[in-house]
Amino acid sequence: MSNSPLEKISTVRLGTDGPRIGVQGFGAMGISEFYGDTDEAAARDTLEATVEAGVTLIDTADIYGLGANEQFLAPFLAAHRDEVTLATKFAIDRRADDPSYRAIENSPAYIKKAVEASLRRLDVDVIDLYYMHRRNPEVPLAESVGAMAELVAEGKVKYLGLSEVTGPELREAYAVHPIAALQSEWSVFSRDVERSGVSAAAELGVTVVPYSPLGRGFLTGSFADAGKELSEGDFRRFQPRFTGDNAVANAALLEPLHKIAAAHGATTAQIALAWVQQRAQVHGLTVVPIPGTRKRSRLLENTGATRITLSAEELALLEPIAGQVAGDRYPDMSATSTVREQ
Ligand SMILES: NC(=O)c1ccc[n+]([C@@H]2O[C@H](COP(=O)([O-])OP(=O)(O)OC[C@H]3O[C@@H](n4cnc5c(N)ncnc54)[C@H](OP(=O)(O)O)[C@@H]3O)[C@@H](O)[C@H]2O)c1
Repeated sequence: MSNSPLEKISTVRLGTDGPRIGVQGFGAMGISEFYGDTDEAAARDTLEATVEAGVTLIDTADIYGLGANEQFLAPFLAAHRDEVTLATKFAIDRRADDPSYRAIENSPAYIKKAVEASLRRLDVDVIDLYYMHRRNPEVPLAESVGAMAELVAEGKVKYLGLSEVTGPELREAYAVHPIAALQSEWSVFSRDVERSGVSAAAELGVTVVPYSPLGRGFLTGSFADAGKELSEGDFRRFQPRFTGDNAVANAALLEPLHKIAAAHGATTAQIALAWVQQRAQVHGLTVVPIPGTRKRSRLLENTGATRITLSAEELALLEPIAGQVAGDRYPDMSATSTVREQ
């Protein structure tokens, strides 16, 4: 909307030669799966608010809702294709007829089929940023990135990304074809990517896209014990850090966030988002965090974080938190790069 009254957020370049994108992006995953029921009209209104606020990197994946998330985005993309940078992902194979089935697929043949299915569901001619969602170490990275590079040559994809890989893996991939973005979990609670991913990204000019920057909502204080407070199918009920004794211990770690939020007249969500932006500066990086929400008011609250600057004292208060978090990020960490880094 050209005559929007909203103040647009500032922009940064994606990778070394990509488009300029809003300094905060949008994660669409929760609209279709993992975080309880969705009011679809409110979610559509939230999508409209992204472009109004200058949030242009829209993030989905083929597995979110088994394709439903990509399909949900299609009408929004039809109306706003030129205003957004569209990112989706392949590699996690799940099946509607077998809920327990999950495989990490990185073969060229799988990638070629996956991109066609995503293009069809999104109803677009080209995907701006195509990520490998997870690495399967049994498939040579050069083979997978080589297949992804062919998609660029064929005009199906513009830029390449990798999710949850190590710094050495990012370098290996970059040697095959430039990589525009590294997407990994990064928040006050989750800093595994700082082991090697961010230094490689800084050196190569790769934009880091922190996912779950609000700790899947835990850092906002909107729930404390997932097991007791969230609905039956909510994924967070199965995440070790959000249930039982771990959740109680981890909720206590939020105290400095509350204190800093009060001092800024801000919310803890905004402080968590401001932290990722400033932590990236320490590493000499460009970051575009992609918080997810299905509510317009929260989207605007989150973009407000781009205007908050934390002092050195405040950053020091937040520094020790991640090292004290009880419980893993996932029930099964075997598909994340950090397991292979230990
Ligand atoms: N590459 C990967 O492996 C990977 C993994 C996970 C996620 N992702 C991507 O990253 C995106 C973001 O991550 P995420 O959705 O897992 O976690 P997140 O952004 O850290 O948190 C999302 C949760 O926080 C709530 N929320 C958002 N803003 C809020 C606010 N201001 N106040 C209170 N609550 C707020 C949302 O609820 P409402 O929706 O009800 O507002 C939702 O439950 C996803 O959408 C997805 O695109 C990628």
